[in-house]
Amino acid sequence: MSQQLPTPAGTPHFHYQEGTLFAEGVSLETLARELGTPLYVYSRAALKAAWQSYQDAINGHNVLVCYGMKANSNLAVLNEFAKLGSGFDIVSGGELARALKAGAQAGKIVFSGVGKQDWEIEAALEANIKCFNVESVAELERISEIASRLGKTAPVSLRVNPDVDAKTHPYISTGLKENKFGIEINTAPAAYQKAVSLPGIKIVGVDCHIGSQITEVSPYLDALDKLLNLLDLLALQGVQIEHLDIGGGLGIRYTDEIPLNPKELLDPVLAKLEQRGFSHLQLVLEPGRSLVGNAGVLLTRVQYLKHAEARNFAIVDAAMTDLMRPALYDAYHGLLAVKPRNETGALYDIVGPVCESADWLAKQREIAVQQDDILALESAGAYAFVMASQYNTRPRAAEVMVDGDQFHIIRQREKLEDLFEGEQILP
Ligand code: LLP
Repeated sequence: MSQQLPTPAGTPHFHYQEGTLFAEGVSLETLARELGTPLYVYSRAALKAAWQSYQDAINGHNVLVCYGMKANSNLAVLNEFAKLGSGFDIVSGGELARALKAGAQAGKIVFSGVGKQDWEIEAALEANIKCFNVESVAELERISEIASRLGKTAPVSLRVNPDVDAKTHPYISTGLKENKFGIEINTAPAAYQKAVSLPGIKIVGVDCHIGSQITEVSPYLDALDKLLNLLDLLALQGVQIEHLDIGGGLGIRYTDEIPLNPKELLDPVLAKLEQRGFSHLQLVLEPGRSLVGNAGVLLTRVQYLKHAEARNFAIVDAAMTDLMRPALYDAYHGLLAVKPRNETGALYDIVGPVCESADWLAKQREIAVQQDDILALESAGAYAFVMASQYNTRPRAAEVMVDGDQFHIIRQREKLEDLFEGEQILP
């Protein structure tokens, strides 16, 4: 009798084959048993397919994709995108070092973030990055000073806060005037004037990023209208720019969302640029989640079942330390049994071993589960491993990249000694 198998929410690269969940040609049951759990597994084909969906939408236009690498900064992932021709959106000196180590071209790196420190600005100037996305006048002055001291010219865009509602979770909405990000759009013309007057600064662009996990095109178009009005003003002021950066933010499917694909975003954006006479500008995008989010799963093993009066708990070996999104944002990640049981399920909360009530991964999910089963949390390619911690002195998970019927360990599981290596007992 054929069994009814669940449907993975993510990409077709994760699918059931003879009753077992596979990533491409590799059984996740085998991977989990061989390499241990918790284990992050990514699909190389899924990364490439996501990249291709942007290329299809770009279709020869002058668009540079700068992968928002905070979403997943494993060197193997970065190297994959670098080889495909991607640029990178970085937010720290650490990300700069990672990107360069992974083979990024400095000339395709944009540097965002509200709190750039001197050493980070220096390193980015020495590397000759494409552009600093500057978030305040104070930062502009700091960059001018440092560039002048080093005898360099800093290419800058001002990150403008267009005050639009991205209609997403408040923690990941960044384009409202209450947010700490960017320069208020009303004051942007004056900030550009200031930039013109400062030594060591070359204006190259205008930038914005309105939020993350956006599933509608209207917030983007509202922001774009405001940016294009600003561009008109800047043209009147004689300020020349080369590129317009509209940030990242495209959402993915976690459960039943219907995300926009890159073409649904780019078609109207490119049309508007054309209409308003700005089609000569390079368009820069900073997608993170939509390039990697559904290219990964987190595998975890069931340690114990506990049937309390109010709840059934499956206590697993992954925790909020491995996947923080549920604890932090109340986020939903799909849950699949790697080898689904042909039994009637029950409602379970999937929880970790950490001593916090917030340590849950999924709540009230119907699943047939037994001790020692392997479960997969879906959509764990973005903002997952990168947000892991070592709380409770837990080693961070290993990461594996599947490629066809092969797999490669792209990050070793941390060892216990790694966890206290830099610590010292008092004399
Ligand atoms: N550019 C800038 C300036 C950003 O701040 C971000 C994300 C991106 C690009 C990439 O956005 P994406 O395409 O991935 O939406 N930890 C949260 C998401 C935080 C996003 C922060 N900024 C989460 O787990 O949902």
